Amino acid sequence: MAKILTLTLNPALDLTVRLARLEPGAVNRSEAMLTHAAGKGVNVAQVLADLGHDVSVGGFLGEANPQAFDALISRRGFGDAFVRVPGETRSNIKIAEQDGRVTDINAPGPLVSEEAQHALLDKVAMIGAQFDAVVVAGSLPRGVSPQWFQGLLQQLKGLGLKVALDTSGEALRTGLQAGPWLVKPNTEELAEALDYATDAISQLHQQGVEHVVVSDGAAGVTWYRPGTALHATPPKVTVASTVGAGDSLLAGMLHGLLSDEAAEQTLRRATAIAAMAVTQIGFGISDDAQLAHLESGVDVRTLTEQ
Ligand SMILES: Nc1ncnc2c1ncn2[C@@H]1O[C@H](COP(=O)(O)OP(=O)(O)OP(=O)(O)O)[C@@H](O)[C@H]1O
Ligand SMILES: [Mg+2]
Repeated sequence: MAKILTLTLNPALDLTVRLARLEPGAVNRSEAMLTHAAGKGVNVAQVLADLGHDVSVGGFLGEANPQAFDALISRRGFGDAFVRVPGETRSNIKIAEQDGRVTDINAPGPLVSEEAQHALLDKVAMIGAQFDAVVVAGSLPRGVSPQWFQGLLQQLKGLGLKVALDTSGEALRTGLQAGPWLVKPNTEELAEALDYATDAISQLHQQGVEHVVVSDGAAGVTWYRPGTALHATPPKVTVASTVGAGDSLLAGMLHGLLSDEAAEQTLRRATAIAAMAVTQIGFGISDDAQLAHLESGVDVRTLTEQ
């Protein structure tokens, strides 16, 4: 069991509204409305907890609507490293219709002041050294610059933590310069951050990024380490919802790496955990027998040996 901190700088309340058919401009009646605490680091934390790790969650949380997060933190027994900021944590509304169509409406988060940013750096400096690894995941909230973000990653690394990064756009581009231990972009995010350089992966290794885990939806995942790469193809599964697939993959990779499992088994289980996420409306490890079955359906092969 490892001790892991996940940081979500821009968490969200996921509000799922189910209805037969959306009629824009009319009064719609929903069949069900579900709210839950979300955000990439919060999702990763839940899968890590399912895998038996000791997890703390942190980042910035709006102080006006903390209930769903407080409830999750106490239900899962997470350590609480969130800095409370004025205003509301954003809500991401998902309108799910009977035919499977999903309409997303994502709100902006609260504006995070410099004072709050200092408070998070202070908090991390105070508690960081007790963790084996830190996951920094998701987008940047309003008020937080990519440069500040890079400084946060450098500080975490300076505390001796293994830093796993999952973000996109400018935050990923700038964050990579801090040389995190592991990065989990999908293929589009990586291409955008690296300007399609041909030797991009080896450049990342030279910058100190040891594990480059590139996910590609149903096509699977490629894990590049200096001098070697493994590719995993997931088994064919019926997709219920891809929410949390990337977060599940990241949690699975951390689990194997921090438990010193063999590389092939690490990637195999992580790929199975991600496949399990897509078979559910939510995500997480609810059924060990199903996970074992999915694992046996993952095809892992070596891509290169240099
Ligand atoms: N249809 C699918 N069948 C099986 N496995 C899947 C499927 N879609 C995704 N996965 C698994 O989940 C992993 C992560 O998916 P993806 O590459 O879409 O991540 P992402 O774009 O980061 O998603 P997220 O929205 O969660 O951030 C994939 O590498 C794959 O192992
Ligand atoms: Mg992702």
